[in-house]
Amino acid sequence: MQSRAAIQEDAEAIARIYNEGIEERIATFEPRPRMAGEIRDWFDGTHPVIVVEEDGAVISFANTSAYSPRGCYSGVAEFSVYTAREARGRGAGTLAIKALMEATEEAGFWKLVSRVFVENTPSRELLLSLGFREVGVHEKHARLDGIWRDVVVVERLLPANL
Ligand SMILES: CC(C)(COP(=O)(O)OP(=O)(O)OC[C@H]1O[C@@H](n2cnc3c(N)ncnc32)[C@H](O)[C@@H]1OP(=O)(O)O)[C@@H](O)C(=O)NCCC(=O)NCCS
Repeated sequence: MQSRAAIQEDAEAIARIYNEGIEERIATFEPRPRMAGEIRDWFDGTHPVIVVEEDGAVISFANTSAYSPRGCYSGVAEFSVYTAREARGRGAGTLAIKALMEATEEAGFWKLVSRVFVENTPSRELLLSLGFREVGVHEKHARLDGIWRDVVVVERLLPANL
């Protein structure tokens, strides 16, 4: 298993893995499956995208996106991490986030943030194990399938840029 920077050609595999997470309704408020073309928009030259491969196949990814359009927050990035359903629990998500932390630190960001459904124990445990801090809970932050959901705000500082 190894991590590397993602390239445009990984978009199909990333979409497949992301759509499994969307279907499960535990990872994101996004209700609609993504097409590879939409994933290609993630490659904006600013926000790192990482994949983890095993035997030549992409099994996990972690990506960043803009946190805010305000200049003062330019060093803060939102992130996500997803592992293919059949590959979970074997360290791929850990590898993806570690590589993402390195790449974002190298790109000059000083903080990673995300919001995790309170029920998403695998994600919360993964992030706590890698030094993320749970800042607090947004109650009824948005609705998924008509039901209000609470999310935990998580953050991790990237010390090289502080
Ligand atoms: C969250 C997710 C990315 C973890 O990926 P993974 O490749 O299975 O993670 P790893 O194998 O690297 O596990 C790392 C740690 O996470 C925690 N973890 C992973 N799966 C877990 C589970 N089912 N229950 C509790 N903790 C779990 C453990 O602390 C684990 O460390 P350990 O193996 O030493 O116990 C994966 O479950 C997933 O894709 N879920 C659906 C999408 C999602 O929820 N993404 C997060 C949105 S923010």
